[in-house]
Order: sequence, then structure tokens, then C-alpha cells
Amino acid sequence: MPHLALESVSLRYDGGAPVLSNVSLDIASGEFVVVVGRSGCGKTSLLNLAAGFLHPTSGRVLVDDRPVAGPGAERAVVFQNDALFPWLSTAENVAFAARLAGASAAERRLQADRALEIVGLAGLGDRPVWQLSGGQRQRVGLARALAAEPDFLLMDEPLGALDAMTRETLQDLLLQTWGRNRAGTLLITHGVEEALYLATQIIVMAPGPGRIIRRLDVDFGRRRLAGESARSIKASPAFVEAREDLLDSIFEREAA
Ligand SMILES: Nc1ncnc2c1ncn2[C@@H]1O[C@H](COP(=O)(O)OP(=O)(O)OP(=O)(O)O)[C@@H](O)[C@H]1O
Ligand SMILES: [Mg+2]
Repeated sequence: MPHLALESVSLRYDGGAPVLSNVSLDIASGEFVVVVGRSGCGKTSLLNLAAGFLHPTSGRVLVDDRPVAGPGAERAVVFQNDALFPWLSTAENVAFAARLAGASAAERRLQADRALEIVGLAGLGDRPVWQLSGGQRQRVGLARALAAEPDFLLMDEPLGALDAMTRETLQDLLLQTWGRNRAGTLLITHGVEEALYLATQIIVMAPGPGRIIRRLDVDFGRRRLAGESARSIKASPAFVEAREDLLDSIFEREAA
């Protein structure tokens, strides 16, 4: 089973103060790991290490026990801002990796249409991306990540810029997609409810230097996939209690 691991990773930028200290993390297929923590605690740095954009100062990043040398097609990344190419059509954005790999126009189109269907954008492949709404563009970013059928999906606040309703819709989309493809997922968010709703495991980080202060297992996402309504889950006493508990951890407050 594909497996992404950070082993006792520490990071400094250009010999500065440590940004991450002794961080260990495991993501296997079928897991949805969500990282929360205050601004500046090193969440994006952590994701960039997992993606292979950065290398640790000490410790190791491994995929299936092999050290990661750089970015790889088995680890797809979704950025906070959609990072689409405005001069390409929606479909060509989705199939961009296939284009680099030399796939034919027909193959690219087939791949793009399949991924666009998953994210609920069937039929929009020919649109220039500037004609899409912000929520639609984030879906295109997700479709592009899914198109290559990656083993791991790494997402840095993918829904952060969206309005509350679009965000809830896309949370369900993320959950359903994960329920189907079981890609090992790492998601960073500022949303405590989002973390609880999606995760199988929540990692709480604290700054100065960035480190993991808590890990907790949750099952609200699994309940949602089993058919319980989002409203009923988010209104349940267990959810409300978990939210307060998580907020206490993030802000290092004494529990009441
Ligand atoms: N390229 C860089 N060079 C030097 N320092 C950096 C660089 N990128 C990030 N930092 C510093 O590393 C620390 C962690 O930054 P990072 O972006 O990982 O935090 P974050 O948890 O993602 O924050 P946010 O929630 O605001 O996105 C910060 O102090 C930041 O200023
Ligand atoms: Mg960040």
C-alpha cells in the first residue's frame, strides 16, 4: 500500500531559525490527515517537504521507504490559489501533466473530461478558465490533481478563498472523492470544523519552532460517507465538544 512518511524532519531556511523541529508524520492510502495550527507554525513548509519542493535540513521524507528527491507524479498538489494557466482551456489545464508527458490531444481530452465529471464540471472543458467562478476554478485545480490518479493528494488550504456555501459543497466533494479513490490525503486548513468534518487524523502544530503538539483520530467524515447528514453531524454534541477541544489545543488554552 502506498505510504508517505516524514521521519524526524527539521527545517531551516538559509541557516535561519528552525521552522520545523522533529516532525514525524505518516500518510497511507485511505487516510485523510488534516494539519491545523496558528499562522506561521510551518504548515505550508511541511506540505512543501512532502511534495518534494523543499528538502529537510535533517530527517527524511520517504515514499514507500525510498527517499523523495523532488516532486513526483504520485504526489499531486492543490494550491490555495488555483494556479491555473489562463491561456489554456479548462480541459487543457486539467490534462497539463499528460501534455508534458506527450499524451495525444484525444488522450488528454478523455482524461480531462473524466476528471471534470468527478468534480461536477462536466461539459465545461472548452471554457477558458477566466470565464469560471472562483469555486469552479478550485474544482479545476482539484480535477487537475485527480487526473493523474495520484497515490497522494497534498492540499494547502484549497478552500480558503471560497464563500461558506461553496466551501461546504466542496468539502463534501473532497470527502466523496477520497471515499472513492482512497488516495492518501494531506490537507492544511484554518477551519477547525473543516478539519473535523474531513479528517481521519488531525495533527495540531504549534509555532516557535513548528512542531506537532497533538494528534487525534476522528470519524465524522466516515459517518458522512456512511450517509449521515452534514447538519446532523455538525450539530451533534460529539462534534461540538471536539471543536472546542481542538480550539483549546490550537490556541494552547487551558481546557475548561
Ligand atoms: N521561503 C522562505 N524563506 C524563509 N522563511 C520562510 C520561507 N517560507 C516560510 N518561511 C518562514 O517559515 C515559517 C513558517 O512558514 P509557513 O508558510 O510554513 O507557515 P504556515 O503555518 O503555512 O502559515 P500560514 O497559516 O500563515 O499559511 C514562517 O516564520 C515563515 O516566515
Ligand atoms: Mg501556509
